[in-house]
Amino acid sequence: MNKTLLAIDIGSSNVNAVIARNNLDYKINILGTGSYKSNGINKGVISNIEVASKCIKEAVLIAKINTTEQIDSTVVSISGAYTKGIRSSGSVNIPNGLITENEINQVMQMALYNATIIPEYEVIHVIPIFFKIDDSADVENPLNMNGTRLEVSVFVVTAKKTALTNIQSALKIAGITVNNFVLDAYATAIAVLDEQQKKFGATVINIGATTTEYVCYKGTSLIYNGFIPVGSNHITNDISVMLHTPPIAAEKIKTEYGNLLKGNEDLVNKKVRTPRIGDEKNSSEVSLEHIQTIIHARVEEVLTLVRNNLKKSGIHENLGSGIVITGGMSKLVGIKELATLVFDNLPVKISTPVNIKNGYMSFEDEKMATIVGLLLYSLEPNRNFELDSNKNLIKKRKIEENIQRSQDPINTTSKEKIVQAKEQKLEIEENSIKGDHNTTILPTISKDKKGKGMSKFWNVITEWF
Ligand SMILES: Nc1ncnc2c1ncn2[C@@H]1O[C@H](COP(=O)(O)OP(=O)(O)OP(=O)(O)O)[C@@H](O)[C@H]1O
Ligand SMILES: [Mg+2]
Repeated sequence: MNKTLLAIDIGSSNVNAVIARNNLDYKINILGTGSYKSNGINKGVISNIEVASKCIKEAVLIAKINTTEQIDSTVVSISGAYTKGIRSSGSVNIPNGLITENEINQVMQMALYNATIIPEYEVIHVIPIFFKIDDSADVENPLNMNGTRLEVSVFVVTAKKTALTNIQSALKIAGITVNNFVLDAYATAIAVLDEQQKKFGATVINIGATTTEYVCYKGTSLIYNGFIPVGSNHITNDISVMLHTPPIAAEKIKTEYGNLLKGNEDLVNKKVRTPRIGDEKNSSEVSLEHIQTIIHARVEEVLTLVRNNLKKSGIHENLGSGIVITGGMSKLVGIKELATLVFDNLPVKISTPVNIKNGYMSFEDEKMATIVGLLLYSLEPNRNFELDSNKNLIKKRKIEENIQRSQDPINTTSKEKIVQAKEQKLEIEENSIKGDHNTTILPTISKDKKGKGMSKFWNVITEWF
């Protein structure tokens, strides 16, 4: 029986909620979407349970407007801020020679049993790096294969119990029970990587409002996850502090004029007027070049921190096919070029998530990557076998043509709804300048950005980037 799912991405700028279920063709059917400005959530952690709970409740209420379906299960994203990734392995004998889901479950449970988990941490994911049957290594999918011994090497994501309890408490106050947790960057990677990138591996970086979350794939296997407590809000703060301008004006300057491309003639001589904090009647004139320098410094810092972390953990040598950047900050003009420099000319792609067809909103927005990932994780498990946060085996299910890419995003009624949503968004943006923040914000449709490769190998790789 198809179950109705509630997916919630608790971000520090917005809480996104989506209600969905698989239809009879196993396609994801979106029943409702809601988004609400966040409060009480900072750097991936709940800082005020009561306030955070209210925002979650509002986002879910908006999502419920168009559906009366009863929610059967709830999946929630968690930040890498309080997670630790560890490796483990397990092996089992195959008495009758045929590997079924039973044996795959057993070997995964054995690898989990063998893992050294810190007492105050809880298991979130057990993801296979590779399977081995007898002497043949690197078996991608052992189901229905024959052998006498099955081994698995796994990547285990664990999260601090207290942080998970705080999320559960915030949701409980909102009347919601969590059934599954999913690592933010893992969900994001599921949403933005295409088949080729999944095959050759990539590093996915999700840069949001106050966090930078990333995961590394080597081949099809997740081998690393990381987190940096810096995001696009830090740029807003920098502009606000350095130009003595209110945060609302600083945010507007960032999104309207932010441009990391050096030598842009248009910017060199241009000036913008910025209001001054505590002196609304007067404004200052600031050169755009100065503003770009402030923005550039912060973005370079974030990307360099990720690169240095990857180098320190020895992952950098394995990055292979490149970097995929998503999340709100990836909308910044020129971030692809800057990231290419920081990551020593590796191919870089700015990605939006796959656009699940629906009548409510376009998911083709960098800010929607995590919520789309939660839906794909729960409703379209065509990945390898893995254990979820309840230590249950997620079975591999190959569903063809489940998702529609953005070329044919919406039917006529949906288009009308998106036009309405855009009008509503404009209204909301005007309100938010006036100081009304608690509003439903729907995403805008973003542009496609393409790049060039370097060497012959990179040329092949960059075709997917
Ligand atoms: N054009 C732009 N340039 C730079 N930053 C932008 C742009 N557009 C949006 N942003 C920023 O993106 C952020 C929101 O992104 P996103 O929705 O991914 O964050 P979040 O998931 O709520 O936060 P987090 O994941 O850090 O908890 C905001 O800080 C916003 O200012
Ligand atoms: Mg986020």
